[in-house]
Amino acid sequence: MSVHKKKFKKVTTNSVQEMKRNAEKISMLTAYDYTMAMMVDGAGIDVILVGDSASNVMAGHETTLPITLDQMIYHASSVVRAVNRALVVVDLPFGSYQGNSKEALSSAIRIMKESGAHAVKLEGGTEIKESIDRILTAGIPVMGHLGLTPQSIYKFGTYTVRAKEDEEAEKLLSDAKSLEEAGCFSIVLEKIPAQLATKVAQTVSIPVIGIGAGNGVDGQVLVLHDMLGMTKEFSPRFLRRYLNLYDDVTNAIQAYISDVKSLDFPNEKEQY
Ligand code: KIV
Repeated sequence: MSVHKKKFKKVTTNSVQEMKRNAEKISMLTAYDYTMAMMVDGAGIDVILVGDSASNVMAGHETTLPITLDQMIYHASSVVRAVNRALVVVDLPFGSYQGNSKEALSSAIRIMKESGAHAVKLEGGTEIKESIDRILTAGIPVMGHLGLTPQSIYKFGTYTVRAKEDEEAEKLLSDAKSLEEAGCFSIVLEKIPAQLATKVAQTVSIPVIGIGAGNGVDGQVLVLHDMLGMTKEFSPRFLRRYLNLYDDVTNAIQAYISDVKSLDFPNEKEQY
């Protein structure tokens, strides 16, 4: 397996923008805890997202809505302690920025101050522009998130592909332009037609990172637990599994149980 040459000693918001200018694809994965973040960073990932998908994969909630700002800060600070190179971006959780821009700024400040992360991510377009402006004014880098925005799941009612119709596609393109104009350093596009995602990536000068958005964007992001095959029930078409850890971990635990029951573990060398 080839190991990708790491050009940047530390990845910054400027580095990912330079990568887009140089047509180098940006790799991004989620992480929520110290040990996994250490492996993800050590492997050479460019960006680590402490996603509010922690609500699903770490806490077992059905949606991303229940996770709190305090819980996001806990996950983010665990990740930051493990990271030497990657840019660490943290999701502002549902309810911590939609109310008003003052609340959005104070949530973003708490994340930066209490976790040591490098940037925040917010879901939405023009409707949250005031919050984005205010966070940026405080010097906090912002990543946008358009397309399927899981925090609005109850508004849409389904996790199906977004922006298939012309009207929604036009709104998404204009939202992407206004996020760029506002000063976002990058945008995530989730689950939209590949052709539209490519058009967005060609229209804006900031990096566009896709999940279920095809290959014409500037980088890709996946949820770590999904790509490692730790989750079984979630199988969208865009997901590539690089391991089948669910089965591997189950087999290891069953072997341990059997060794304990049969007195095979611990053996003489494994005791004092
Ligand atoms: O929370 C998350 O993991 C995300 C990614 C799916 C982009 O927002």
